[in-house]
Order: sequence, then C-alpha cells, then structure tokens
Amino acid sequence: MSLRSIIAGAGGYLPERVVTNDELARTVDTSDDWIRERTGIRQRHFAGPHETAAFMGTAAARAALTHAKAEPSDVDAVILATSTPDQAFPATAIRVMAALGMQRGFGFDLAAACAGFIYALSVADGMIRAGQAKGVLVIGSEVYSRILNWQDRGTCVLFGDGAGAVFLRASDGSDTDQGILSTHLHAQGSLGDILYVDGAVGQRDRPGHLVMNGREVFRHAVTRLAEAVDEALNANGLARRDIDWLVPHQANRRIIDGMGRKLGLAADRVVITVDRHANTSAASVPLALSEACQDGRIKRGDLVLLEALGGGLAWGSALVRM
Ligand code: COA
Repeated sequence: MSLRSIIAGAGGYLPERVVTNDELARTVDTSDDWIRERTGIRQRHFAGPHETAAFMGTAAARAALTHAKAEPSDVDAVILATSTPDQAFPATAIRVMAALGMQRGFGFDLAAACAGFIYALSVADGMIRAGQAKGVLVIGSEVYSRILNWQDRGTCVLFGDGAGAVFLRASDGSDTDQGILSTHLHAQGSLGDILYVDGAVGQRDRPGHLVMNGREVFRHAVTRLAEAVDEALNANGLARRDIDWLVPHQANRRIIDGMGRKLGLAADRVVITVDRHANTSAASVPLALSEACQDGRIKRGDLVLLEALGGGLAWGSALVRM
C-alpha cells in the first residue's frame, strides 16, 4: 500500500496590529484608492517586536494541531518556510519545536520566498511517502515589515506579516482517496533580479530590503501560474471543472481573479485574503487555506488547488483532496 499525506488540520496567526491603507498614506506617498485599485489590498497586519517568525509560527502550528486533534508528541518533523527567520541559526523550525515542547523529531527552514509553503509541502509529502515521518508540521511564517523599504511606495504597500500552518498525517490510503495528489516545483534563476532582497546576515552591514520590478513579476506570474495549473491537472488526469477550490498565493487581486477565470471557477470558489492580509509571502497560502477550512467553506472530499510564485523566480502547485 502506498503512503499518502493527509492535511489533518490547518491554523493561522496574524499580528494584533492592523494597518489600513489610509494609515500608511500618512507616512508613504500613496492613497487608499491607488492600493485598492491596483492590488485589492485594504489593510495588512504588522508584527510587534515580540511577534517574530518563530513566535507566529508556533501560534499557527498550535492552531493546526488543535484543528487536527493532534499533540506536539505526534509530530516527527517541522518544516518552516521563511525568508525572515529569527536568527541565521538555530533554524526557526527548531525554535518552534522548543516552544511546542517537542522532545524528539527534527526540523529545518526552507527558503523559497513566496513559493516557500508549496516547496515545504512538497518536501514534507516526499518524506511521508518515503516513510521518513508520519506527522509533519509545515509552516509558513514571515515578518516582511522588517525588510520593506519605506522609501519605495511601489513595494512597501504590498506586504504584511503573519503565519499559517498545516499538520500532515501519513495514511496508507487503503480507506480513503484523501491526501496530497501531487506537487510540482519550478525555479528560474535567470529571473532572480526582478524580485529579491539586497542583503542578508552573510553580507557585512547589509541586512537587506525588498526590491521588485512589479510589472515584470506580474507578467511572469500570470504565465507561469497558468502553466502550473495545467501541469497539476494533467498529471492527475483531471479537468478544470473538477476543482472545487482555488487557494492561491495572495499577492494581487488582479492576478488571483485572472487565475479564477482561467479555471472557470465562480468567484466564491476562490479563497481571498489579500484584501485583509496583503502579501504575507510564504504564510499566504496556509493562512488562506486555514481560514477556509476553519470556517467550513472547504469540506472533506473537496479538490483544492494551491499555487504560489515569488522571488527566484520560484513557483509551484499542490493538488489536494481534503
Ligand atoms: N501609490 C501611489 N502611486 C504609486 C504607488 C503607490 N503605492 N506605487 C507606484 N505608484 C505609481 C508609480 O510611481 C507610477 O507613476 P507614474 O506613472 O507617474 O510613473 C504609477 O503608479 C504606475 O506604477 P507601476 O509600477 O507601473 O504600476 P503597476 O500598474 O505595474 O502596479 C504593482 C504596480 C506592484 C501593483 C503591480 O505591478 C503588481 O502587482 N505586480 C506584481 C507584484 C507581485 O505580485 N509581487 C509579489 C510576487 S510574490
């Protein structure tokens, strides 16, 4: 019997502080109208000093475990996607393990920018299928407010902070068709300079700020994500009409609406959080997924397509029977 990964629970965490477009417009040369019209964003959450990637990731992980009716002792591995870790090391994932009181297992961070959660989900699924772990926490946790350039109105209005997590449980597939059906990952390094952070802890005196050519990212996102959707469906012998829910990366409402139209999905079958969360990078897909699972929109048996694209460029998809 071949092993499969079931999404047993999902949870999220958002910082307490909400910042509206109007509030941003007091310090940045922008307006609520411009931001809403171009991106669909109304507000975002910004982390306070204590709300680090580990703090928020731990809260999201706890919520995912509770939703799955699982305990930290059921977790064999923690994989945490982030571009804004608490420290160069230990891995933020291992800080989360400590905060959860885990006495065994292993953990590591994974960096694939906004595609980080899809990458982490794919790695976790591979480990479960290989029999290396039976219970895996997959977390996306980001504090982009710490790497934004407040002088660049073309980027600083687009991002927010938060964390999302899922708990994956191994199943032998004998009694259910539930689980991650496939994941597909891609990267094209020649496009690395259209979205990047111009520093890191390994660079002397340059912690780094986010830099983006928005138009180019937009153009590539539309094409690559459309290809990724077809790739996921073809690999499983499924058609667009089979998809019940699209849970896309939440960067821009126009990109999301375009994907929904391409799939022929009614607007209420596309999970949207970008209006309230802005782009939370690796946290955006699990935050959106957890919201729609927790409020009962996504139900057991639904076919859900997850997709994301970001700096690298790195992108990917996951097709999941819930
Ligand atoms: N407020 C007001 N005006 C702004 C602004 C802001 N926050 N940011 C840029 N502008 C201005 C520009 O200065 C420019 O003015 P000009 O015409 O007088 O020079 C004008 O708005 C258009 O700028 P442009 O950058 O061409 O806008 P756009 O229509 O491409 O929209 C994005 C910008 C960022 C919203 C859009 O490119 C986008 O969403 N790209 C994809 C980003 C993305 O998804 N990134 C994350 C991937 S993980």
